Amino acid sequence: MPPKYSEPFRRSDGEHYARTTVRSVRKTAETSVPLTPAIAERWSPRAFDAAAELTGPQLTALLEAARWAPSFGNTQPARYLAGRRGDRAFTLILEALNPGNQAWAFRASALLIGVMVTANEKGDIPYAEYGLGMASENLVLQAVELGLVAHQMAGFSAEAVRSSFGLPEHAVPRIAIAVGTLADASVLEDERRIQRELAPRHRLPLSEFAFGDGWGDPVFP
Ligand SMILES: Cc1cc2nc3c(=O)[nH]c(=O)nc-3n(C[C@H](O)[C@H](O)[C@H](O)COP(=O)(O)O)c2cc1C
Repeated sequence: MPPKYSEPFRRSDGEHYARTTVRSVRKTAETSVPLTPAIAERWSPRAFDAAAELTGPQLTALLEAARWAPSFGNTQPARYLAGRRGDRAFTLILEALNPGNQAWAFRASALLIGVMVTANEKGDIPYAEYGLGMASENLVLQAVELGLVAHQMAGFSAEAVRSSFGLPEHAVPRIAIAVGTLADASVLEDERRIQRELAPRHRLPLSEFAFGDGWGDPVFP
């Protein structure tokens, strides 16, 4: 299915969450039944509006969403480093990204690093990476709920982050996240990148995803 062009996608219209008006590409998930809108509308764009800023309340909402994620035994292994465009933390995170990610992520309103804490006073934290993943998905879905977009990246140097931010050994940078406002794909300039931005999204069919009687037997025959 070709990408849909539509009126700006709006969710929360509270004054704190006002967003820049853009002609957005929607890449709504194709599902057999309706889903929670934040899940259906989430995708990972690279065309960010370089003029849009993230407000303090918006950043607070993203971090609150992540903070309230479940975790093994409530061990809460997730931590975040966060910078908004123009500040020191943003610059340090941008510098740590791989060149391919830097090429588009510099337009984001905020850049974050998700850090997993691998040990506490009782010893190693089980399922720490799972906990950081749950927290980060909460953050990303909250961004969509606010009318923003988010794009996670493994392409960055954890060592650069460790050194720039003075992380202790038991704090492991695991994911970078760009958050901002969706812009028209044309901001990417390069035709190949624009085509990638507009390409349809794909997933495994449900028949290959959820099994019933045995591995490979579709739960929905
Ligand atoms: C752990 C993880 C690492 C990723 N790393 C990158 C990355 O370094 N650069 C990038 O452009 N996208 C990255 N992505 C985005 C994925 O490519 C994207 O989520 C996937 O293609 C599915 O597309 P969708 O998010 O639009 O549904 C990453 C996503 C995850 C969850």
